[in-house]
Amino acid sequence: MKALILAGGLGSRLRPFSHSMPKQLIPIANKPVLVHVIESLRELGATEVGVVVGDRGGKIAEALGTGAQFGVRLTYIPQEEPRGLAHGVAIARDFLGDDDFVMYLGDNMLTDGVQDIARDFLARRPAAQIVVHKVADPSEFGVAELDTEGRVLRLVEKPLEPCSDLAVTGVYFFTAAIHAAVAAIRPSARGELEITDAIQWLVERGADVQGRIYEGFWRDTGRVEDVLECNSELLKDLTSSVRGEVDAASELIGAVVIEPGARIIRSRLVGPVIVGAGSVVEDSSVGPSTTIGQDCELRSSVIEHSLVLEGAQVAGVGAVRGSVIGRQATVTSGLVPGWHRLLVGDHASVEVAA
Ligand code: DAU
Repeated sequence: MKALILAGGLGSRLRPFSHSMPKQLIPIANKPVLVHVIESLRELGATEVGVVVGDRGGKIAEALGTGAQFGVRLTYIPQEEPRGLAHGVAIARDFLGDDDFVMYLGDNMLTDGVQDIARDFLARRPAAQIVVHKVADPSEFGVAELDTEGRVLRLVEKPLEPCSDLAVTGVYFFTAAIHAAVAAIRPSARGELEITDAIQWLVERGADVQGRIYEGFWRDTGRVEDVLECNSELLKDLTSSVRGEVDAASELIGAVVIEPGARIIRSRLVGPVIVGAGSVVEDSSVGPSTTIGQDCELRSSVIEHSLVLEGAQVAGVGAVRGSVIGRQATVTSGLVPGWHRLLVGDHASVEVAA
């Protein structure tokens, strides 16, 4: 089975981070989302992987290379404009040939794996098989209605009034039957060729379209809150390892990873916490559920449930929680007590204590 990752698109819900990097490269537990995606595909045995990329494709190729270091072979497929998920399938036609394939949206994380669902698809080979997940409000996703046997009766993209509580996740299994469907559909009201419409086209023509419920942890990392929740979830399985320096005045509690070259000085780390390579944590309290990227500096600060990306600096800040601090960003205490001085980039969001 081949694999197709969709990693184009605009990422507007993940601004300001998506201004400077494709959203699929945002690191979660210190690994870009796309690397997590590739690892999931490898678990399914899919090593021939097409990657649909948009105008930031260069950055994705820089991060992933040929894929050899992840045990897969990547073929980049440029998409001039984000014209929809089904358009991604259409432009990958030569790469896919008539093979069965798994399509994985490059911003999706299904951390408990979908091996059982993949096995089921390969054994039965329905025309298409979607992976659905029960959510309280599915209206911001594709929504599926299944019969008691798991056959898909109806699929609707982001309906105002969902017909079920089953959201369509970003993992799809297809036989070559999908190509006729993709060729037949027209752009939706939002101007995109929707994969949901292509699958619905198959349903309406009586094709065997199956849905399987995934019970594990799933997030579409399209929004900052989801990125943070994913980070916390992945950190739950962290195993301690200290490859950097920790001085005698510091305390490590719970699962803590200190990467090579990192230094912990007079600080308290409450796991799960990762401190990236080359970072310095001094006179600070970090964690739980916090990932510090590489080459960051944290001084005289308290930070928990947060993500600090590569090269960022935090100094003299008493309480940081639920935050994402971008690459090379600085957060420091002000010179004038009681006043905030903010140099906030486009589409950034800052919450200060009242
Ligand atoms: O996350 C699951 C949801 O993903 C499903 O429930 C929806 O049915 C499905 O349409 C999709 O909805 P989103 O609105 O979240 O899709 P998004 O635009 O975020 O794109 C998903 C991924 O595909 C993302 O990595 C960007 C990439 N993409 C998107 C478009 C529109 C492309 O590579 N090319 C495109 O043209």
